[in-house]
Amino acid sequence: MRRAWAIVVAAGKGERMGEGPRKQFRLLRGKPVLYWSLEAFSKAPSVEAIIVVVPAGEVRRIEEELAASFPGKVARVVEGGASRAESVRRGLEALPEACEWVLVHDAARPLVTTALIERVLEGAWETGAATAAVRMADTVKEGDERGRVLRTLDRSRLWRVQTPQAFRRRLLWEAHRAAMAAEPTDDCQLVEALGAEVRLVEGDPSNLKITTESDWALVQALSGQNAPARRIATGFGFDLHRLVEGRRLVLGGVEIPHSRGLLGHSDADALAHAVIDGLLGAASLGDIGMHFPDTDPRYAGADSLDLLREAAGAARRKGVRVLHVDAFVSAEAPRLRPHIEAMRRNLAAAMGIDMERVNVKAGTGEGAGPVGRGEVIEARAVVTVERED
Ligand code: CTP
Ligand code: MG
Repeated sequence: MRRAWAIVVAAGKGERMGEGPRKQFRLLRGKPVLYWSLEAFSKAPSVEAIIVVVPAGEVRRIEEELAASFPGKVARVVEGGASRAESVRRGLEALPEACEWVLVHDAARPLVTTALIERVLEGAWETGAATAAVRMADTVKEGDERGRVLRTLDRSRLWRVQTPQAFRRRLLWEAHRAAMAAEPTDDCQLVEALGAEVRLVEGDPSNLKITTESDWALVQALSGQNAPARRIATGFGFDLHRLVEGRRLVLGGVEIPHSRGLLGHSDADALAHAVIDGLLGAASLGDIGMHFPDTDPRYAGADSLDLLREAAGAARRKGVRVLHVDAFVSAEAPRLRPHIEAMRRNLAAAMGIDMERVNVKAGTGEGAGPVGRGEVIEARAVVTVERED
């Protein structure tokens, strides 16, 4: 079976978009735009591995993110260049010697499907080069700079070109080398310039490129059809720490004045830990010990809200959206009521959700058991999320 490597270019600046994060990293149904393409390519049987080209300075962050939460075929993350063509070239340079076929795709087209990827590859197996494209539905006219019609073009022969595009690697490499100075908007142009045949493969009208804010609105609307079904899931978290002299008492990120504090490797914020475990549970991401081992010196004295922020990031990258948190803290003393609002605010901010979605309750141990004797403070949390089925 013939297989291809894929280069997904995501190093653009998105200058035609409005304010906010770059388009390839915006969240589409809770998941970064780039991830949608990576998922479609990961699922394609003919795709062996993926190279992701990202903006300068983002390589490390994205590498770590993908390693932590993207169970796909991403082999390498490399830095892009000043133009799209330059970014593609950087991707080509990162291909292994053995790679014979290559796909190029714009991260700005998140609605690409696995079926389309396979179709374009089949086109390329035949000719050496192929692109996804859709036939023009509108009548097309050529005009001059003052808006006067010069002529009407023959619509039956016109196609709007998309990505993915697929090539024999040697051909694309040669085409790029021959065109070092040009600023092409797609890779087929370069192959055409060599005089090689390029096959048009029936694309998908929904495979839109996000260029302006109005495309973004369309893609958001269309993503509902492609989006996997969502379901509600719950996670449960529990934690307990001993109360000892000479330690700070931190709960929900609030330092509470008290004669004793909680003993632990980090700041021992039992409430934040219970919420982290609940969140990881709901996202099927294991538990707190797996992500932040208490043998790791990095977490000595750690602010547990930072850990919660990280856990929430990992969940978000998996397409998990936190709907609600309900937590219960069991402490004989001190009185927690005056601090509940601040705890809710801290926890919500760390998860990037509205404070209204976080509830914190507190109770005593009625003088009984380890809580009642003031030996420990316990926290429990139930986290409700919405996630892919
Ligand atoms: N791209 C890239 N490197 C560049 C420029 C573009 O990897 N130097 C990528 C983009 O991230 C995008 C694809 O090429 O996935 C198509 O480019 P385009 O839609 O033009 O995106 P931007 O260049 O980011 O947008 P703009 O031209 O509005 O700045
Ligand atoms: Mg551009």
